[in-house]
Amino acid sequence: MKKLSYKQTPIEIGPIVSGSFEQYLNENFPNSKKVVIVDENTHDFCLEFMITSFPELADAEIMLIPNGEENKVLEVCYQIWEALREYEITRNDVVINLGGGVITDMGGFIASVFKRGVPFINVPTSLLGMVDASIGGKTGIDMGGYKNLLGTFTDPKSIYVDISFLNSLPEEELWNGYAEMLKHALISSRTHWSELVKVVDVEDLLNEELIMTSMEVKINLVEKDPYEKNSRKLLNFGHTIGHSIEGYLLDKSPIGHGHAVAIGLWLESFISHKRNVLSTEDFRAIEKTILEKFNMVYLDPDHYNELIQFARNDKKNNEGSIKGILIRSIGECEIDTVFEEAELVSSFNYMNGKLSLLN
Ligand SMILES: NC(=O)c1ccc[n+]([C@@H]2O[C@H](COP(=O)([O-])OP(=O)(O)OC[C@H]3O[C@@H](n4cnc5c(N)ncnc54)[C@H](O)[C@@H]3O)[C@@H](O)[C@H]2O)c1
Repeated sequence: MKKLSYKQTPIEIGPIVSGSFEQYLNENFPNSKKVVIVDENTHDFCLEFMITSFPELADAEIMLIPNGEENKVLEVCYQIWEALREYEITRNDVVINLGGGVITDMGGFIASVFKRGVPFINVPTSLLGMVDASIGGKTGIDMGGYKNLLGTFTDPKSIYVDISFLNSLPEEELWNGYAEMLKHALISSRTHWSELVKVVDVEDLLNEELIMTSMEVKINLVEKDPYEKNSRKLLNFGHTIGHSIEGYLLDKSPIGHGHAVAIGLWLESFISHKRNVLSTEDFRAIEKTILEKFNMVYLDPDHYNELIQFARNDKKNNEGSIKGILIRSIGECEIDTVFEEAELVSSFNYMNGKLSLLN
């Protein structure tokens, strides 16, 4: 069993049945009601294992949320809050978020505002959730198609990362997690990047050491700057364009958060390269790695304004500008860069141009 921690949040990595989860529940919540929040997939693939492994969860209230980002919204939270009220959940009880980033973001948000804060534990079940979403205390939901507009900074009481949950995770979702791992490498370490570039197929991702290295990047940044005043912003690399594409496609042909981030990493690297900040060699390496694993998407030029609107409304911005991250070299990025609309347009054109070469 390996242990990491940030601020006061203990993180345990290894088979959850042989770790301290049960002891933690018994010590901290001996007479508490337990609420487990799942989506349809984690209900089918992960819940039974948890309930049969831990007698403490035998009587847990199970709250089922429909799958997918489109359900990370206030209406769904409201239903869960009503259920929490019906079950008379109090601040002495505990919520266990068993799922990917949608469940840890939304379950954390639900718990953090119900009765001004019910404690919660994250048990991430997607790769993206393990290396990124479950760590760092950002909880949230989307609003009007805009990502994470409502949310709180509230840390889980503890986090348990058991990579055996990944056995049922669809391949595409493992690649979505890989995208955030690439981001972690690009903002912090060429060595980690070199390890990730060696990943050929999804089996290579089921690697506890690689996952832990990625988690450590996130932990180091959130520990130094928990409220995103400064260096934590590096974690937004790829997200200015990524969030705009993800938000724009949400009601058309949705793509995974990680997939959108991978495209964002590539196109924001393109902008950095066009500014002569990123070398051709590094840009080509990033482009190659991303295009080997992720499909491009066609962005209709008639809708560029809509995409720019999504980027403009991102919560990272202020004073009407579009803010993003510039990459100087693999492992070194710069925060608080203003992207011009024309740069976004030229990056969209670049992707569309590449796509048309394939057709
Ligand atoms: N809070 C943060 O710091 C932070 C950081 C990064 C991303 N996020 C958020 O995380 C979300 C994306 O997370 P995600 O990619 O995990 O999405 P997700 O939670 O939707 O999970 C992806 C899919 O995998 C399924 N799934 C999860 N675990 C499974 C398992 N073990 N077996 C089978 N299926 C499983 C889910 O049901 C879903 O269909 C986005 O909403 C994003 O905004 C938050």
